[in-house]
Amino acid sequence: MCGIIGIAGRSTVTERLVEGLKRLEYRGYDSSGIAILDGGELKRERAEGKIKSLEAKLKDGMIDGHTGIAHTRWATHGVPNETNAHPHFFGRVGVVHNGIIENFLELRASLPDNHFRTETDTEVVAHLIDDALTRGLDSKAAFQDCLKKLRGAYAFGVIIDGVKDQIFCARAGSPLAIGIGDDEMYLGSDAMALAQLTNRLIYLEEGDWAILSPDSVDIFDKSGASVTRAETIISGGPAMAEKGNYRHFMLKEIYEQPETVGRTLANYVDEFNLTADLPEGLNFSEYDRIVIIACGTACYAAMVAKYWFEQLAGIAVDVDVASEFRYRQPVLSPKSLFIAVSQSGETADTLAALRYCKDHGVRTAALVNVMTSTMAREADIALPINAGPEIGVASTKAFTSQLTALASLALSAAKSRKDLSRDAEIRLARALIKTPRKIKEALELDAQVEQIAFELSKSRSAFYLGRGSQVPIALEGALKLKEISYIHAEGYAAGELKHGPIALIEDGTPVIVIAPYDPLFEKTISNLQEVASRGARIILITDDIGAKSAGNMASETIVVPSSDSFVAPIIMSIAIQLLAYHTAVHLGTDVDQPRNLAKSVTVE
Ligand code: M6R
Repeated sequence: MCGIIGIAGRSTVTERLVEGLKRLEYRGYDSSGIAILDGGELKRERAEGKIKSLEAKLKDGMIDGHTGIAHTRWATHGVPNETNAHPHFFGRVGVVHNGIIENFLELRASLPDNHFRTETDTEVVAHLIDDALTRGLDSKAAFQDCLKKLRGAYAFGVIIDGVKDQIFCARAGSPLAIGIGDDEMYLGSDAMALAQLTNRLIYLEEGDWAILSPDSVDIFDKSGASVTRAETIISGGPAMAEKGNYRHFMLKEIYEQPETVGRTLANYVDEFNLTADLPEGLNFSEYDRIVIIACGTACYAAMVAKYWFEQLAGIAVDVDVASEFRYRQPVLSPKSLFIAVSQSGETADTLAALRYCKDHGVRTAALVNVMTSTMAREADIALPINAGPEIGVASTKAFTSQLTALASLALSAAKSRKDLSRDAEIRLARALIKTPRKIKEALELDAQVEQIAFELSKSRSAFYLGRGSQVPIALEGALKLKEISYIHAEGYAAGELKHGPIALIEDGTPVIVIAPYDPLFEKTISNLQEVASRGARIILITDDIGAKSAGNMASETIVVPSSDSFVAPIIMSIAIQLLAYHTAVHLGTDVDQPRNLAKSVTVE
């Protein structure tokens, strides 16, 4: 989604703002722009498409100064062209914005000059502030006056012609961080944007607004009262966002999984005593139901977790996509535990679901990758997955770390609810501990999967089938393929296909069947035969025993390392990630920044 960066400093900023924009590219965008207070005067440059188009324009007529704001835009209101690209100017005011101003039409109509140049909701902010300045308010009062009128979600950066060295900013609904430098202050939509500038961040809280000058930051809450917010030191530094020798971030992140899953486990499983203990503040025996809410890939991790919690711990689990959850008036009780699963910890719908539960007196936990995120800060309990920064838009290592953390939690839940013998606990903990090694072995399938992907890349549509805890892996496989290769794909519970979708199977339709050798294996193979006998080209993903038992209906068989069926969804994920990745590479798509997608969806 849209990215914001700003610098209020004492040396020139254009080059550093552009560098910051490049660090925001991973969020997904379709235009970019920069505005500078050049000798106190507002100047800007904007371009449709990639940041290199903006850079080319900046070279033609370089603008520079000591204070500036910049933006990558992911279009919501208005097509992605230069006119609609931020920063938006009106009168004395320049603004960059992430979010949606829901009442922008009403506000437009209320303004004396309602001649708007763009189709965006954002432009109204520049008009409102300029109007307040015209009415005689000073810059601080004009900014505050504008904030009071807005409805919706926003993170802003504003500069004002004639107001030297200052950036005004605010957040409500969308994240925003302030960076502290030496004689410079920064603004960024996330730590990544500021990684090259500072590791000292202040995360604004909901409703906060602030004024940045080179040597000071004044923060105010919603009521206008001056407040102090804690400073966070970010570890990692600029190198954390490098691709190294990998062609794409996605491939790098796929290959990191033995290590990232190992890091997740280190937080939840005691490998010497072979036990999974409950994280502090969490006691599953206090609850009779778990509600897990997430979006996209994170939701598929939640769906796998439902099998684990119900089968191991005997606790009922509801899983819902966040965008539906709060609008269906879910039945909640104080004996429910809510878990938000989110890589970014900023997804607007998941965050809204978390807040809904808090408002209804339900205890909340957030399982996140970004521990400085809004969800981590607002939930009663923040549970880390420790996967490290995920840059590829298609989630890979965060998914397997989410699965690993949820599997460990299910194990500790089973233990605390006394639904598990010590022998079973040892077996399951051992299975988890072996997972990084099994993932490493699964990565050795890369060359074979690349060849299979070549054939798959010629298809326009594909199906993924699984049973039990492999159903969400089938759904995830289809999502991965869709989002980066643009091939239409659907995931189904294998037994469900004959209730309709089988009508779509014709000669050569690729069907990827995910079937480890487990108690459901034979049933899945029957479903495989149903589609194979109607001409489908089967790609079977199984383990050693599965491959020997499956017969010869598959055109291709990918044999992943055998594992306890408990962790098989994690191992199977590697194969479906590689398959999607290589298919996309064969097709030449933009793997790390697929069209229309944003890394973190911060609007509803
Ligand atoms: O940051 P989150 O985990 O909350 O993001 C949720 C989804 O937007 C995300 O998983 C999305 O589906 C990915 N593009 C999948 O690869």
